[in-house]
Amino acid sequence: MKINVLFSPVSVNELYFTGKISVVIDALRATTTIITALENGAKEIIPVSTVEFAIKVSGGMFGWQTLLGGERNTKKIEGFALGNSPLEYSSDVVSGKSIVLYTTNGTKAIAKAKFSSELFICAFLNISALAKHLAFLNYDLEIICSGGLNNFSMEDSVCAGKLISKIEKLNNDLVLSDSARASRALSKSFGRNILNMMRDNEHGKLLIENGFEEDLTFCSKLNNSNAIPYLNGKAIKLLPDNINSFQSGPDEKTD
Ligand code: MLT
Repeated sequence: MKINVLFSPVSVNELYFTGKISVVIDALRATTTIITALENGAKEIIPVSTVEFAIKVSGGMFGWQTLLGGERNTKKIEGFALGNSPLEYSSDVVSGKSIVLYTTNGTKAIAKAKFSSELFICAFLNISALAKHLAFLNYDLEIICSGGLNNFSMEDSVCAGKLISKIEKLNNDLVLSDSARASRALSKSFGRNILNMMRDNEHGKLLIENGFEEDLTFCSKLNNSNAIPYLNGKAIKLLPDNINSFQSGPDEKTD
């Protein structure tokens, strides 16, 4: 099983993903929000890469069953029902709803990788559950860090490294690209305390500045969810529990 990490989706075009199994990470905060919304009963998340398209798509859907969510520069977009804080996506708000989601980097990375044969969503919350499923599939993997405005992001790379280390515990026949090895090394040096790492990062600092400190605490939780979101056509849904691979002992909960 070969694993490659893209530190930003900018270095490749959409066709690069054709036929590949991909994992998209935007730990702060888009992929954490997607996992949380689906776990809290949202019917589906429709990721889009422009605000205009989000409005157009939601206009063609049943209004009372659809919510527009997302952010610009971390803040809720005018006219949208929800921002991009996972704490907003509670079951009383999202249960049974289709959510059209636009975010600066995360949903764009998902849209870019849409030609993948399978595309999974990862954040610190679901590393262990997803690693078990990927080890079970035993196919080559592309891990896409959404990054920040086409640049490297520490939290996404550390999350990728933790995912790789967990897969490695289940499959000792991995071939890692240089970027995959670098992510694993970063997760060993910067991933011991995920919350502190996020507080020191560029995007974490911006979120704190803009009043979203609680989101860092939420997004830093490790293996708190068994949810495995995947792209099914144009929408992200939850993989049914019974497809969910093999068990391998207790999960690491501390950061
Ligand atoms: C993004 O996609 O860039 C984000 O998830 C930004 C955020 O809302 O923190």
